[in-house]
Amino acid sequence: MTAVGVIRGITTDRRAVIPSLRRLRSEEGQANPLPVWDELRALGEVVPAPWGGYFVTGFDACNQILRGRNWLVPDFAWQERRPDAARWQDPATREMTRTLSRLNPPTHTFQRRALGNLFDRGTLEAMGPGIDAQVSRLLDRLDLELRRHGEADFATTVGDQLPIHTVGHWLGIPDEHFPHILDFTHRQVHAQELLPTKSELAVSAEATVEMKAFFTGFVADRRARPGNDVLSGWIRYWDAQFPGDRAAADQMLYDLTMFITIASLETTATLLANAVWLLTQEPSRADWLRRHPEHVDDAVDEALRYDPPIHLNSRFAADDTVLAGVPIAKDTVVHVLYGAANHDPRRNPDPHVFDIRRKGGHLTFGGGAHYCLGTSLARLEARLLLTRLLQRFPTLRPTARPTYANRMVFRRITSLKVTT
Ligand code: HEM
Repeated sequence: MTAVGVIRGITTDRRAVIPSLRRLRSEEGQANPLPVWDELRALGEVVPAPWGGYFVTGFDACNQILRGRNWLVPDFAWQERRPDAARWQDPATREMTRTLSRLNPPTHTFQRRALGNLFDRGTLEAMGPGIDAQVSRLLDRLDLELRRHGEADFATTVGDQLPIHTVGHWLGIPDEHFPHILDFTHRQVHAQELLPTKSELAVSAEATVEMKAFFTGFVADRRARPGNDVLSGWIRYWDAQFPGDRAAADQMLYDLTMFITIASLETTATLLANAVWLLTQEPSRADWLRRHPEHVDDAVDEALRYDPPIHLNSRFAADDTVLAGVPIAKDTVVHVLYGAANHDPRRNPDPHVFDIRRKGGHLTFGGGAHYCLGTSLARLEARLLLTRLLQRFPTLRPTARPTYANRMVFRRITSLKVTT
C-alpha cells in the first residue's frame, strides 16, 4: 500500500481501480475505508473508471468540480445521450433524477431560490427545544435498554430515530408513519448506488411505489387541512406558480417533500453513529470533549471530515475540459470521492488522525450550486445529541466495531453496540 502523502502519477489503466472498489464494498472496506481512499489517491488525482469516466481523489480537484459551472449533475438529458440509456430507465432511478440533486440550471436555480434558506437561524432556534426534548426521550430509551440488557444498540435506538423525528415534526408528519418511512428509505437507496444490480433495482422500484403513495397522500391530506406550517406554505407557493395546473403543483410538492425527507435521514443517522463511534472508541476523546463542551461543533465537523456519510457524488463535463492535467471530453462523468478528498494530506496534514481541534477542511456537504440544504440542521442535531449523551453517559463505550450496509455511495451504520 502506498503511504499517505505520496501522490503518484496518473494511471491510464481503466481496470486499475477494480481491486480498490471491491475492497471498498467489502466488509473490511466498509469498516475502514481509509486505506482504500489512500490506494485510490495513490493511483492519481483523476483515475479512470472501468465503465468510462473518472474517479477524482484530490481535495482541490474535487472542490473545483463541485464549485465549477462547467460541471453539471447527470440529469435526464445527459442520460438520454448515453449509449447505455436503458440503464437509467428503471422507475427508482427516474424518480430520483427528477429531484433537486439531479437538476441543472435553469430549473435547479428556480427551485433552489423558491426554497430559500430552509434552516435559517430563526427556524433553527424554533426547532432547537423540540429536538433537544426528542434527544432526551431517545436517551431515556437507550438508558432503559442499558439497564435491562447491559448493552444497547445506539444506531437503531437513537441514531436512526433522531433524524426522522426531526424532519418529520418539522414537516408535520404523524409519528406513526416514521417506521415505514425509514424502511422504504433504506430500500430505495439502492437505485442511487454506482452500479446497482437488477435485483437491487427491483427492491428500489418496490420501495419507490410505497414512497410515492406515502408522500402523495401526505401532500393531499395537507391540502385538505392547510395550516401555518412549512408544507402549507409550499402548497400556496407552488399553486401560485402553476395557476390552473394542480397536477404540476402536486408533482413539485411530492418531489420536494419526498426528497428533503429522504435526503435528511440516512445521512444524518450516519453522522450521529460515526461521531459516537469515533469519540467513544477512545475514552480519552469523549472525556476531553465532556470537559470542553465548547468544542462540540469542532468534534462534529471532524467526524464529518473523517468519515463522510456519502462516499461519492457524480458530475459530468459540460464542455471539453482539462482536470488536474487530464483531458476530459464533454459529457464524461466524474465521481467525486469525498472521503479521499477529505483525507488528502495536502489539505489536511496527518489526515488519518482524528483531531477535534484540527479545524480542517472537508467537502462532506458537497459544494457550489448543490451544496447541501440541511447542513445547519444536521449539525444542530449532532451538537444537541453529543452534548446530552456525554453528560448523561460519561462511561459509554462500544462493545464491538459498528456493522455497515454494503454500499458504495451512501454509507450506513446498521448497528453500534454500546455499554456503560
Ligand atoms: C450529515 C448529514 C448530511 C450530509 C452528509 C449531507 C450531504 C449532502 C451532499 C453531499 C449533498 C450533495 C451536494 C453536492 O452535490 O454538491 C447534499 C444535498 C442535499 N441535501 Fe444533504 N446532507 C446531510 C443532511 C441533510 C439534511 C438534514 C437535509 C434536509 C433536511 C438535507 C437536504 C439536502 C438537499 C435538499 C440536497 C440537494 C441540494 C441540491 O441539489 O441543490 N441534507 N447533501
